[in-house]
Amino acid sequence: MKNEILNFLTDFISIPSVSTQKERFNDILKAAEFLKNKFSSLGFKVKLIQEKSSPPLVLAHRFIGGKKTIGIYGHYDVQPEEPINEWKTPPFKLTLKDGKIYGRGIADNKGHIVQNIFAIEELIKENKLKNNIVFLVEGEEESASSHFEEYVKKAKNVLSKVDVFYLTDVGMIKKNVPTIYYALRGIVYFELKIKVGEYDLHSGSYGNLALNPVQFLADLFSKMKDLKTGKILIPRFYEDVRKIDKKEKELLRLASIKEKEILKETKLYLIHPLDKKEPSLSPKIYPSMDINGIISGYTQEGVKTIIPKEAAVKFSFRLIEYQKPEKIIKLVKNFIKKNIPKGVKWELKLLGSAAPFYTPLNNEFIVKTKNALERVFRNKVVFNRAGGSIPAAEVLQRIYKKPIILTGFTLPDDNVHAPNENFDEKMFFKGIKALKEIYSSI
Ligand code: BES
Ligand code: MN
Repeated sequence: MKNEILNFLTDFISIPSVSTQKERFNDILKAAEFLKNKFSSLGFKVKLIQEKSSPPLVLAHRFIGGKKTIGIYGHYDVQPEEPINEWKTPPFKLTLKDGKIYGRGIADNKGHIVQNIFAIEELIKENKLKNNIVFLVEGEEESASSHFEEYVKKAKNVLSKVDVFYLTDVGMIKKNVPTIYYALRGIVYFELKIKVGEYDLHSGSYGNLALNPVQFLADLFSKMKDLKTGKILIPRFYEDVRKIDKKEKELLRLASIKEKEILKETKLYLIHPLDKKEPSLSPKIYPSMDINGIISGYTQEGVKTIIPKEAAVKFSFRLIEYQKPEKIIKLVKNFIKKNIPKGVKWELKLLGSAAPFYTPLNNEFIVKTKNALERVFRNKVVFNRAGGSIPAAEVLQRIYKKPIILTGFTLPDDNVHAPNENFDEKMFFKGIKALKEIYSSI
């Protein structure tokens, strides 16, 4: 079976299904077809739900009159492979090296999808699957799941039968330490384009006469966030933020790591924690703002003395409960409008948004999942919050009002979204065992 799994994984990883790049759209469709064929071969009824030119949602179900109906979510789209020269192995070629499996998407999230598929396949073959299974695998998670809500509403006839949704798109805090997540941050993502004139100008002839668009952005962003304290300065931004109480912080400290470990994990030279007393908790329990990319002027070899005519910047906010994306979007729009001077043309685009996710831990599925994970990994489950976002979690919770369970088997050095993305081989195969244990014990 191990070889069969690795072969399947090799084929899946070889499809560069990057959802944020239009020229890769055929590969998105290819990945969806690839999954469809596999689900069909396992006796699932499969439907691709799709709006014109957006990535399809693969919906596959196998109803056997079982006791419970388990929903399994994943995403088959991946992040772009850039910067490509920093990869030590080709990004779309599955490579096993020193106990790690390398390839773009192996950790986020193709590896987890494959673990789920083979866990189910093995349970079927061993005649141990007593529950109905519904797979929902989307193709635009990495571009903020813009159609997900519409698609899952279209699939009401199937999804309303689901008793519990499993989202395996997170990792473990440490090797062999199973982790269940009860909160994810939300996100709002913007692109701002500004233009100060029609031509790049000679910086000698016109320096002192023109507004420099890059310096303007630098000034704008220093008004948006204080670099020293890390606080976001947009009026009313923190209004709805929930304060995490002592008890919860104590629980989260069990999943915390020391400064030294953070440096090792991130390869940063120095950390700049928002909360000096709780570096490890800083990305989990507070909102944040980051500039994700900025383009302007001359950046090629040598000297070019210009004042650029325009600049573009991508930036995003991570939100925690009970912040509402709609409200934050309004506040940001107003802030930018207020701070852009006369004579600057600008366009602000919202590229995506997702609400924060939070779930209480008091349901039978959490208990059963915890016990199953502890049996396989022989370690206590740690409960954690993630700083990242999975739009699907909040959408499924709000629409179907069923327990959502977030767990997964990747490790902190998995390099998700970065070069040399990897999945620990041992955790990969143990993860399949754990999923079998979970799905056959509920
Ligand atoms: N699997 C991640 C989310 C994640 C990251 C969970 C780190 C826990 C820890 C997911 O695929 C992801 O990267 N989501 C994007 C969503 C965004 C594009 C809307 C994210 O968080 O940046
Ligand atoms: Mn991701």
